[in-house]
Amino acid sequence: MPAVMRAGIGLLNGGWKRALTYPAGSPTSSRRSPCRVETIVPALFLILVFMLSFTMLSQSIYPSSPPEEQGQNGGSSSSNPGQAGDGGPSSGSDGSDGSYETRPPKPVSEFSFDIDQIHVPRWMAALPDNVSLTALSIPGTHDTLTHSLAESHPRLHCQNHNLSTQLNGGIRYIDVRARLNTSRHDDPSSNRPGNLLIYHSYAWTGYSFADVMTTVFSFLDQNPEETILMRLQREGGPVHVGPDGRHILSKSRREVGETVIERVEYAMDRRGKSWGADPDFEAAFNYHRTSDPDTSAGFDKHFYLFPSSLREDDKKTPTLGQARGKVILLQDFDGAQGTRNVYGLPWDERDDRLRIEDLWILTGPRDMERKWDAVKNALDDAAAAEDVFSGPLFLSHLSASVAVDPVDVAAGIRDPDTGKWHEGINDRTGKGLRKRNDGKDEGKTGVLMADFPGKNLIAAIVERNAWALPTTDGHAEK
Ligand SMILES: *[C@@H]1O[C@H](CO)[C@@H](O)[C@H](O)[C@H]1NC(C)=O
Ligand SMILES: *[C@@H]1O[C@H](CO)[C@@H](O)[C@H](O)[C@H]1NC(C)=O
Ligand SMILES: *[C@@H]1O[C@H](CO)[C@@H](O)[C@H](O)[C@H]1NC(C)=O
Repeated sequence: MPAVMRAGIGLLNGGWKRALTYPAGSPTSSRRSPCRVETIVPALFLILVFMLSFTMLSQSIYPSSPPEEQGQNGGSSSSNPGQAGDGGPSSGSDGSDGSYETRPPKPVSEFSFDIDQIHVPRWMAALPDNVSLTALSIPGTHDTLTHSLAESHPRLHCQNHNLSTQLNGGIRYIDVRARLNTSRHDDPSSNRPGNLLIYHSYAWTGYSFADVMTTVFSFLDQNPEETILMRLQREGGPVHVGPDGRHILSKSRREVGETVIERVEYAMDRRGKSWGADPDFEAAFNYHRTSDPDTSAGFDKHFYLFPSSLREDDKKTPTLGQARGKVILLQDFDGAQGTRNVYGLPWDERDDRLRIEDLWILTGPRDMERKWDAVKNALDDAAAAEDVFSGPLFLSHLSASVAVDPVDVAAGIRDPDTGKWHEGINDRTGKGLRKRNDGKDEGKTGVLMADFPGKNLIAAIVERNAWALPTTDGHAEK
């Protein structure tokens, strides 16, 4: 066994590799993946596919799409305050039409859903201090806090485990989306800013930003050599929480569309646009950062502050040594003067320090092939990046949605029109990485953000860091 693989096993300690094998006879998706995705699809075919998708949309509604729960509560989402915490909002209270239960069962996916079956809370501890975070392969989740939305909002449901399970399962990048709770403004004598609540689109997840940070800080207290990248996104306008606990959005949820066409149109229209600066949102973030009794001490201890100087070197993405025990913010909200450069790295495709893959609008199952092309290209680019110790931070989404539910993008879907099985992006990625790991070819993945990740996907990503482990003579093998 080559030293690097031995080291890779040492990295995760405790026979984790054995746990990665499914028992004989257990179902895997390999049996049902007729499409050979590694073959290069000619560009012309892709264009045709894309045009066909739109033709299909303009003629008929994608038949397997259950309607959004129509006419429920206008602009409010489920809001039973007693449901906060692990459970979040429950399906019943939101008047779900139960469509999720009547859909076909979840596809079998070897690389999805079972992140609770891998326990690697300290996989970064074995890595040397002097590697840049840009050199690492880091598993992450997209729409991290949505595990409570399974029944109430299947279309917005992206995770089946809560944050602490994800962190213990190796996730080191989280996607946190918040709206400002303006209810404090009801009291004119109060000049405290509101708090931030975790939303996905129009749906409250049951969590507050303070809940999220408390979980993150306590994980870092227990595992002080780890680091967590956190994208904090302003998910839209503010929300008013009434005295009865009902959440009232400033804009109607209808704006996001009921039919597939409306949803695609809305998504296309919103794509790449910022919500603009909102001083109240920023003030609320700063309240949690500096004054909130539940979180400010944690921020003091665990928030990575970039040096305030303008020296080029100080703007660089930190090394693991600098980042241990810290949260590094990817700022996806505009600060005063419209800049995103205030509290961390700016979430901005134009920034040299980041390389973002985010093709998230699928117009139907056949778009899965277009999505996989985008992911494959991003993986190839990250692996080929020559300077493994610096260069941009690659951030690639395995997730997508809109006319295909997130669970189907992750784990696979059969096109009801053509009968063709489109293998899940988690499975394609996991298999691709396994092949690379077996071939011991080097190169990082960057950060890979997934919906519903499973233990095999996490292991395949983490294992790619084996090259950076110190060998027995104390030097990194590269
Ligand atoms: C997450 O779920 C696990 C397992 O169900 C539970 O033990 C843990 O307390 C939960 N954590 C949070 C922060 O809710
Ligand atoms: C929204 O703000 C009000 C006023 O400060 C507060 O009482 C309420 O708990 C907040 N709602 C949530 C869900 O945090
Ligand atoms: C990191 O430290 C190791 C061990 O001291 C050394 O071999 C390696 O060259 C260093 N790498 C960088 C990029 O400084």
